[in-house]
Amino acid sequence: MRGLVDILRAEHHLETNDYRALLECDDESVVTYLHRQAREVGDAVFGKGIFVRGLVELTNVCRNNCYYCGIRKSNTAVERYMLTTEQVLQSCQQGYEVGFRTFVLQGGELPRDKAQWLVELVSMIRQRWSDCAITLSLGEWPRDVYEALLKAGANRYLLRHESHNAEHYAKLHPAEMSLSNRLLCLTWLKELGYQVGTGIMVGSPWQSLDNIVEDIEFIEQFKPEMIGLGPFVPQHDTPFGKYANGSAELTCKLYSIFRLMLPNALIPSTTSLNTIDTNGRVKGIMAGANVVMPNLSPVSVRGNYTLYDGKAITNAEAAEGVAQLETQLATIGYHIDWGRGDYNQCAIPNAQFGN
Ligand code: 5AD
Repeated sequence: MRGLVDILRAEHHLETNDYRALLECDDESVVTYLHRQAREVGDAVFGKGIFVRGLVELTNVCRNNCYYCGIRKSNTAVERYMLTTEQVLQSCQQGYEVGFRTFVLQGGELPRDKAQWLVELVSMIRQRWSDCAITLSLGEWPRDVYEALLKAGANRYLLRHESHNAEHYAKLHPAEMSLSNRLLCLTWLKELGYQVGTGIMVGSPWQSLDNIVEDIEFIEQFKPEMIGLGPFVPQHDTPFGKYANGSAELTCKLYSIFRLMLPNALIPSTTSLNTIDTNGRVKGIMAGANVVMPNLSPVSVRGNYTLYDGKAITNAEAAEGVAQLETQLATIGYHIDWGRGDYNQCAIPNAQFGN
């Protein structure tokens, strides 16, 4: 089994059955070996720096109804909010003063007529902080909206595909959503020139190991610049409220597999991992993740951006907690890298890894 890890590290690719075997393997010495190989590769590319991104949760208003998500349209138990332009700029300002050089604007999928507001918002952030990267995580839009947002100054876009198996995708989403449209959006984003992030929830209801292998193979051929993976965590007011958490171990295994497959990828150790495991952030980094996304949203709205239950919103998850984050990273020999952390701005040239 270690041989498979060595092949993945050397060739950045495994056969379908071998990915499956690695996912199934629960031999602790192999898993430890996998994490160690991934961490070595991460260190070779990025050194001991962990990038931080300031997350601004723009709104919990959403036109979609994904069965897993706490801010789905049909959930009447959430108090809806939308930050004002001023609040967003203020959050960015506070983040900038702390040292953040990437702002991630994330939110539910707003009504189509809010596209212009988003474009103007991006344009204001771009003018005010010309040295910062702007990442968007705002769901599915028509191609021309993605284009307008890019022209306004956005650089990166996060859009998890959630599942590359159409049947499984359809079990997670209502009929008006489709895997084909999600993939079309990802293709547009890439064509337009965004740095693109995609990914899945680990352990979402009905997800099989074969489904995860399909996701791995999709990511292998799509080659996103960023890979977002976190365990599924139930939210009690959703149709999936009674399902179990995804696995932290499997999530970390996937961080390692993706680090070996795409050495330069930006892989966050996610809040959801840290929600189900109190030491999740550190475990994620030790498995190969190299990004943390603390929350810059105004404290007054944080409690309403409830994608899942128990979401950590304070301490090292919050921008106020960067000192704590720094301390935590120091215990494992890492530190915050305050750079923009664009793809391929890393220490070792891409070519060395053959992809
Ligand atoms: N558990 C874990 N992650 C979730 N997301 C949405 N709902 C949940 C949940 N219940 C993730 C989705 C989405 C990202 C913004 O948050 O994968 O792409």
